[in-house]
Amino acid sequence: MPSLKPDTASDHIRQLNAHYAAEKADGETLLARLRGAFAAAGRDPDRLNLDDIAGIDQLHLGGRRASRALAELGALNGGERVLDVGCGTGGASRLLAAEYGCEVTGVDVTAAFVDVAGWLSAATGLASLTHFLCADAGQVPLPAGSVEVVWCQHALMNMPHVPRVLAEWQRLLVPGGRVLLHEVVAGDNPEPLTLPVPWARTSVTNHLRDRRRLERDLALAGFEPLRVEDVTEEALAWRQAHSQREQAAGPVANSLPGPNLIFGSDFVQMGRNLQDNLTAGKVRILAGVWRTTRR
Ligand SMILES: C[S@@+](CC[C@H](N)C(=O)[O-])C[C@H]1O[C@@H](n2cnc3c(N)ncnc32)[C@H](O)[C@@H]1O
Repeated sequence: MPSLKPDTASDHIRQLNAHYAAEKADGETLLARLRGAFAAAGRDPDRLNLDDIAGIDQLHLGGRRASRALAELGALNGGERVLDVGCGTGGASRLLAAEYGCEVTGVDVTAAFVDVAGWLSAATGLASLTHFLCADAGQVPLPAGSVEVVWCQHALMNMPHVPRVLAEWQRLLVPGGRVLLHEVVAGDNPEPLTLPVPWARTSVTNHLRDRRRLERDLALAGFEPLRVEDVTEEALAWRQAHSQREQAAGPVANSLPGPNLIFGSDFVQMGRNLQDNLTAGKVRILAGVWRTTRR
């Protein structure tokens, strides 16, 4: 089974941590930076609501609307135990807890995101339904058969070892368990991506695979498709609207923190490049539900 050698694995983790949570020159952590930004916007950083934090906890195209659409596509009926793979700052984990009553464990290799996810869940009163672990998706410290659903939004495109990760999902899911995916895949245009994009400043953290390869990897890992949709058009429309807003926005007094506090000052360029890559057919967006064939 393909896996990462230990030194390659730690390179992968180092590169992702550097991409997502590069310390600024002053050494301030992401957690301190975001807490300070909420305080500066007149909010108590320990008492926040899900609307306040939507600018920093939805690191995927389509925001909360896309997560709700995926939950509907996957027919979540409430109360499932969910593993949120590559959970980032934990936005989907909290949405599934707050709106579907799910008990969610989020796992992410970017340590600074895991710290932020724990803080945001405590600040929004969702700490009892959401738990966060700092680990590689290929080796999650949870017992076999501990979740009914694996949820993954915009994270596989950062992973060089997808077959290893899918094998881990098989281990963690109960028989008949489901995988709900909302992923960035390579499009038919083979030209190089315009960089930076939100998941990669250079090709080092970019591991896009095309839809056929991802579907084949899922089949080989023992997952059957229940419903798969290409949602590129909706994603592009959402990105265009956001790029317009981001380019028009100057500094606004008391404004709530947004993704530029995570990604840095090149976030507007990342969004514009993602829009261009979508328009040029270099990337596409997929949403789908698979079920393990183990009964
Ligand atoms: C674009 S962010 C998406 C975060 C979140 N899913 C969301 O939609 O808000 C991709 C996330 O995947 C995480 N990630 C990438 N490779 C990973 C791996 N091998 N194991 C765990 N997390 C990983 C990154 O650290 C990052 O938080």
